[in-house]
Amino acid sequence: MDVFEREKSRVAAFYDKKTGSYQYVLADKATRAAAIIDPVFDYDEKAGATSTRNADAIARYVDDEGLKVEWVLDTHPHADHFSAAPYLAEKYGAPRAIGEKVVGVQKLWKDIYCLPDLPADGSQWDRLFAAGDTLRVGELDGRVLFSPGHTMASITYVFGDVAFVHDTLMMPDAGTSRADFPGGDAHALYRSIREILSLPDDTALFVGHDYGKDGRDPMCMATVAQHRADNVHVKDGISEEEFVATRTKRDATLPLPALMLAALQVNIRGGRLPDPECDGRAFLKIPLNRFEPVDEDE
Ligand SMILES: [Fe+2]
Repeated sequence: MDVFEREKSRVAAFYDKKTGSYQYVLADKATRAAAIIDPVFDYDEKAGATSTRNADAIARYVDDEGLKVEWVLDTHPHADHFSAAPYLAEKYGAPRAIGEKVVGVQKLWKDIYCLPDLPADGSQWDRLFAAGDTLRVGELDGRVLFSPGHTMASITYVFGDVAFVHDTLMMPDAGTSRADFPGGDAHALYRSIREILSLPDDTALFVGHDYGKDGRDPMCMATVAQHRADNVHVKDGISEEEFVATRTKRDATLPLPALMLAALQVNIRGGRLPDPECDGRAFLKIPLNRFEPVDEDE
């Protein structure tokens, strides 16, 4: 766990090595109020087993620090891990939120999974945020940017000199996240990123993933100024057309995330597992031959 001290806030970053995901606890130094952002619910695909290992590590930190969790936030419906938002929200009696366009993602994927009874109205969350909406964590004022591109529902949470940009940007040496999932859009991603990079230069941008580029250890934060100077995909001077060409070429070489077909059917339910069918157990559905395999050696 890494801790970042900012003027009014403290950000603790928790890394899930299995999925390369970063999960965060944002705390207001003045009041000890906190928000948990993008927590992971562990899933072992070989055993089909879930666990709360990551979420419990976050909860231990919250409890040790005496924090009061006021929100459990997701930036978007994740394609590579299950969300632990329901587990942590229930534990702390906190509301869960995501971007309002999650309704579009639900509509898209309920057809892909053939889940006609799944309500595609966002009712699985307590609050759906639109662009410009505000929220508070203790005395920290937050606001929401609509940041589509990686998914059609992605949002960014900005709290003063800190922003949670999820899978729009990656660290500057890795560039950006893919835009080729159903509902993704490289043009939209570029514009979302330019909006994020118009925040003040010293804003700390916390990313959703890092895999440790070229042997360096995984990292999760770079400032707006660092991205504008060094981001290999979107530093200042790179045009939308250049970015879209780079992003599209790269996306064509990427296999789908190993857990995508398992994860999205859980995450469009707000992170809840499907209802039990037999023996108290839930089952996942996999749409066969809906997606093309990508040959990684080509
Ligand atoms: Fe993602």
